Amino acid sequence: MSDEPFILPREQHELSRQLIDENSLKVLYRLRQHGYTAYLVGGGVRDLLLGRHPKDFDVGTNATPDQVRKLFRNCRLVGRRFRLAHILFGRDERVEVATFRRKPEADECPQDDPFFSENVFGTPQQDAFRRDFTINALFYNIEDFSIIDYVGGLDDLRAGRIRVIGDADERFAEDPVRMLRALEFSARLGFEMDETIAPAIVRNAERLMAVPPARIREELMELFRHKVAGKVLQRAEKVGLLPWLLPEFTSQRESFNFLRQLDLRTAAGTPIEEHVALAALYLVPFREACEGCPDDLNVAEVHKLANRYLVGHCQRFGMAAGLRHLARELFVAFFRFQRGRGRRGEQRFLRHPFTVQSFDFYRLWCEASGQPAELWQCWEAAVKGEEPEGSGGLKRPKRRRRPRRRPPRPKPAPAS
Ligand code: CTP
Repeated sequence: MSDEPFILPREQHELSRQLIDENSLKVLYRLRQHGYTAYLVGGGVRDLLLGRHPKDFDVGTNATPDQVRKLFRNCRLVGRRFRLAHILFGRDERVEVATFRRKPEADECPQDDPFFSENVFGTPQQDAFRRDFTINALFYNIEDFSIIDYVGGLDDLRAGRIRVIGDADERFAEDPVRMLRALEFSARLGFEMDETIAPAIVRNAERLMAVPPARIREELMELFRHKVAGKVLQRAEKVGLLPWLLPEFTSQRESFNFLRQLDLRTAAGTPIEEHVALAALYLVPFREACEGCPDDLNVAEVHKLANRYLVGHCQRFGMAAGLRHLARELFVAFFRFQRGRGRRGEQRFLRHPFTVQSFDFYRLWCEASGQPAELWQCWEAAVKGEEPEGSGGLKRPKRRRRPRRRPPRPKPAPAS
């Protein structure tokens, strides 16, 4: 990695301004007009160069957050850990603008400010070197539309390789979440991890314990949103990261298969919700526990069983009770679907608005685990409300009616 960047001129790459979101372009141009350096940075550049649709477009600049605020009326400064500017467009569009940063020297950091090290401003070159992977450190320069590469990211993009900038042990120690990100980008982009990464993860896995659970929870949801949860968690198991990431999770092939099936469903267009992800993580051990139980467990008992698998995770990640409740409802419905039709309370269960979602979850599990289709097919019409009255496998136990007791007829009064 040299000090001088490699510059790829506009005519040698495919990243056209037409692919960049209009608001981000406005922000880039205005910064530029006022004499600041303005680059498109991070994942946006990576994805556009790969012909993918970026999730967002981030801007890097040498303007300080206060200077950015003076330029844009619609600007909010945000972030305690990482101070940056949000330029707001309309009600829900925003462009993130971050001032170029550098890694501070160890003796620069004051004891009483835990966020100081994240907020020391620097040059574009220093900003590139503080980033995690080479493919995430490319800049698109709005001045001449070239790509600026300080770290060999373009070569790695072409080779399909995830490479840490600098020493992997050092960079993982700096931010242990990067270990998970390495697995995530490798799965998302179909890239190979550079050979130094897996051994460095093995050496540093334990460091994940020091990461605030809220951050891990957010990264985990990113895996689900990017449809790579199954793949990444399975790889995390191989490199010894999983026990530090999800101590309550029991690694089983069946669980990974189910998570992969869920990823496919998300890829096909069903947005992932956190309670579904939560239930998916713990369904397999819950189901195994159900197998050893009588199938006439009452709801309170099934709740108790479900809690056994959900409470630890929810406490660790500080999840709201409502989320756990929804995941538990998926488990209870799973239990009901699995024991088959014709049970007490079936009609009420079928009419419940949550049952359609639970059925979708149950069916997904049946498909992931190769169960015979009859298992879910016998429920389908009924769940969708398409079952003709009185049909559809409803083996309602016949109630034996007690003969009605008639009051004894009054005897005719004796003739007087
Ligand atoms: N970054 C980093 N270390 C981290 C997190 C982020 O160096 N632990 C840098 C990377 O340069 C990354 C950029 O910050 O590209 C933005 O991070 P983020 O938005 O989390 O990821 P993207 O790379 O933009 O990918 P995507 O948004 O598609 O998930």
